[in-house]
Amino acid sequence: MSHVLERRLEEALEGFVRDGVYKRLNYLDSPQAARVTMEGRGEVIILSSNNYLGLSNQAEVVAAGKAALDRYGAGTASVRFICGTFTIHRALEHACARLVGTPASLSFVSCWNANEAFPGTLLTEHDVIISDQLNHASIIDGIRLAKAITRCRSAVYRHGDLADLEAKLEAERGDRVRMVVTDGIFSMEGSIAPLPDLVELCRRHDAVLVVDDSHATGVLGARGRGTAEHFGLVGEVDIITSTLGKALGGAAGGFVAAAASVCDYLTQRARPQLFSNALPPTVAASSLAAIEYLEAHPERVATLQRNARYFRERLLELGFRPLAGETPIIPVILGETAAAIRMSDLLLKEGVFVTGFGYPVVPQGEARVRCQISAAHTREDLDEALAAFQRVGRALKLI
Ligand SMILES: Cc1ncc(COP(=O)(O)O)c(C=O)c1O
Repeated sequence: MSHVLERRLEEALEGFVRDGVYKRLNYLDSPQAARVTMEGRGEVIILSSNNYLGLSNQAEVVAAGKAALDRYGAGTASVRFICGTFTIHRALEHACARLVGTPASLSFVSCWNANEAFPGTLLTEHDVIISDQLNHASIIDGIRLAKAITRCRSAVYRHGDLADLEAKLEAERGDRVRMVVTDGIFSMEGSIAPLPDLVELCRRHDAVLVVDDSHATGVLGARGRGTAEHFGLVGEVDIITSTLGKALGGAAGGFVAAAASVCDYLTQRARPQLFSNALPPTVAASSLAAIEYLEAHPERVATLQRNARYFRERLLELGFRPLAGETPIIPVILGETAAAIRMSDLLLKEGVFVTGFGYPVVPQGEARVRCQISAAHTREDLDEALAAFQRVGRALKLI
């Protein structure tokens, strides 16, 4: 390897260690569940997983993946339009569309891929995409890529600030597509996008509304259909992107759900579709089984929502000040990155796995530990985790 590159990387890595921001990977030797086996630590309660519905190790989800391996083999061995597409992909895409309430959907190997695909494929040099300031990195990179590919323009509106968004829509009046994009649930805050106002604003300005519901699918609404269901707006969002790698089985994969013409156009032109293999059939089958399980068991969503409420209320009673909200993402702000990492380390010593996040993932001075609650957690799991929070909180003089 080039000496220049080697030296640069070594210096940067040493800097990460010095600044207390070096990420160490924790190896698990068991499936994702409320409690996992962590190499070198034994059993720990996991409060940092997106396995919101506890479906990653659900018997039906695992069995469907195994059956698909027998039926379809390991994979597509090429791009879908070149060498054929499996019927399981079509079944999955029908199920994704049905779940989120759109006429059609198209699967991708990840939601990252889906978010990289739609702006650069659907926009042109005449168009503009306007993005919430706190949107996920995949949306930000998708927009950067779209600008390079199509020469479209972009703007950023202040987080959740509808007046700022409206001003930006006004400034971009004219015969062009104006696309507004937001996360459904913001993953670092656990807050929900103001969807009713966004729908109204986009309708009034003839703008296209895109919602990335990766943290909301399976989580919000009585049946886990996402942010639109939470607000009684199923069918009102133009384009929904979401992941199969969180509540819906947790393996991998993502999708764009929208009108048939949008999905058909993406099939024709989206570069990640045209130049990359499809989702492995095992994963497609597991994800389909996860959606079918969710449709048959809405009580899982109710359990998740009840667990999240319980954990948030007990944290408040202990004297912590989590960010206000109503989702299973419950961040406790600590200030400096090193403080968040220290709290996360102490909690892990107590047998509770909660990740600390610092700058640049969250703004400077707003480092946090982020708890994520699952329907898989029992009251006993949550109470044990809360007792660990109390001990660590006292040791750090936070409560
Ligand atoms: C809001 C949001 N969008 C997209 C993604 C990417 O999803 P995937 O893991 O399917 O690439 C994530 C994952 O963290 C996310 O939180």
